Amino acid sequence: MTVTKKIKLINDSPTIKFFKKMSTSKVILVTGANKGIGYAIVRNLALKYSETSNSQPLTIILTARDQNRGQTSLNELENELKPKKILKNDGGIIDLKFMQLDLLDENSIKKTEETISRDCNGLDILINNAGMAFKGDSFDVNVVRTTFATNFYGTLNVSNHLFPLIRPNGRLINISSNSGRSSILSEKWKKEFGKEDLDIDGLIELMKKYENAVEKGTYQNEGWPRQAYGVSKVGLTVMTKIFARRADKEGKGVLVFSCNPGWVRTDMAGPSASKSPDQGAVTPIFLTLDDDAVPKAPNGSFWSDCQVREW
Ligand SMILES: NC(=O)c1ccc[n+]([C@@H]2O[C@H](COP(=O)([O-])OP(=O)(O)OC[C@H]3O[C@@H](n4cnc5c(N)ncnc54)[C@H](OP(=O)(O)O)[C@@H]3O)[C@@H](O)[C@H]2O)c1
Repeated sequence: MTVTKKIKLINDSPTIKFFKKMSTSKVILVTGANKGIGYAIVRNLALKYSETSNSQPLTIILTARDQNRGQTSLNELENELKPKKILKNDGGIIDLKFMQLDLLDENSIKKTEETISRDCNGLDILINNAGMAFKGDSFDVNVVRTTFATNFYGTLNVSNHLFPLIRPNGRLINISSNSGRSSILSEKWKKEFGKEDLDIDGLIELMKKYENAVEKGTYQNEGWPRQAYGVSKVGLTVMTKIFARRADKEGKGVLVFSCNPGWVRTDMAGPSASKSPDQGAVTPIFLTLDDDAVPKAPNGSFWSDCQVREW
């Protein structure tokens, strides 16, 4: 028997196949996870996943734009979870990792893509959580540009790089907002954003139309709202639908959803908000872990309180 044949036989043996399967970790990456809802998603994913009867190990990649803030959050979480013995070092099935990822930095996005593809050989679930909002009532074209740069273009860029790494039957989950529902738009723009054949270029064109109208001061006459954050999240929710159409065409069974976490007490929303970060993480975690209702839902749909909602 030739050496090649021998190797093939060994690799095909049921025992090797079993160990290969067992040692392949499921991989979930969360953006903007050093605090707020993103941190709560990572924490609750670790806890919930280890409660299930699933024996497949899970690697959760907590990403943050700032190395120190990200590493500090990871250490804090590891210390908290240590007594629960769910982490790999303590004999559990959860492996927590940190990667630096800034939505505004092309190099850090490319580096993340390279690392994921080299070290993890792909990704099962990408949770686009990172986002920003201006405090107060300031509104001009700079507010629009800055908000769009992170919430829309940054998230789009991360998705463009990481979506191709999502394995068959994986998921992409975008943390959008109730502020980004179509009800903030006039009928004219609702129709434009809602077109079934809208592609990413068409969506970018619409986002630019808003930016230009704000710059020229004509946005009100053109039927646009005075809501940079809301329109950035409209863009994200519609981007979700476009990626879902792409996923359906590719036929790998990848599910793509957006969701509203609710009004959550974080640095973004402040202390008066109604939900705790753990409560804000409930719908994103449901979309990540549920294997019953979620796969039956229309691809590209928008969720709130673990239910599909009209966008
Ligand atoms: N809180 C709410 O009531 C609410 C409601 C609806 C939707 N949301 C959405 O939920 C998501 C999380 O918000 P949150 O309330 O948890 O806000 P948060 O506490 O302010 O956290 C935002 C996270 O995003 C990160 N981030 C911002 N810009 C980034 C960039 N360029 N690259 C990478 N990370 C970046 C922040 O990092 P730094 O710490 O470095 O700034 C932080 O980790 C956002 O998409 C938000 O729009 C929140």
